Amino acid sequence: MATAPEAGDKSVEGVVGHTADDGVHRRDFIYVATAAFGSVGAAAAIWPFVDQMNPSADVLALASVEVNLSQVAPGQGIKVSWRGKPVFIQHLTPEQMAEAQNADLSGLRDAQTFEERTQEGHRQYLIQVGVCTHLGCIPSGTAAGEVKGDFNGWFCPCHGSHYDNAGRIRKGPAPTNLEVPEYTFLSDTNVRIG
Ligand code: FES
Repeated sequence: MATAPEAGDKSVEGVVGHTADDGVHRRDFIYVATAAFGSVGAAAAIWPFVDQMNPSADVLALASVEVNLSQVAPGQGIKVSWRGKPVFIQHLTPEQMAEAQNADLSGLRDAQTFEERTQEGHRQYLIQVGVCTHLGCIPSGTAAGEVKGDFNGWFCPCHGSHYDNAGRIRKGPAPTNLEVPEYTFLSDTNVRIG
């Protein structure tokens, strides 16, 4: 605590307006100001790195794809590209749906019901990644005239995997069914995959 200088006290001459306390405060201010500047500088330096780690707009666009199915008639199928992979979208007929629902699942290595592979309210659309779960070939069977295998679904020619019309593995080396991706119906005929 500084004491008030007495009249004639030469020790304070030349530092008029600056007591010992002032000196402490000035140093504190310089320290705080430097620290604050340092933090802002660090934040500014870090931001570009954080920003670079966020996916860019074009990557986000590829992360999901919207498909209009209004032109895909029952019995028809289309292939779309999603994250670099083909996705099969099949519009099943009532007969195909019944066949898929009534299939005997006993003995299947990846037993899944038709209900587990489709969404309520949109069960006529079977949506699955068109990549064989054995070693990654692309099965045939979606388009008219393609080989559909022994179970009226999809056939992978690489090593002979047969999938049924709900994409379940029935025969051959593939260990699991064709993958069903995440998807959301935005309307009766518009679906967003991913
Ligand atoms: S990659 Fe399809 S059966 Fe081997």
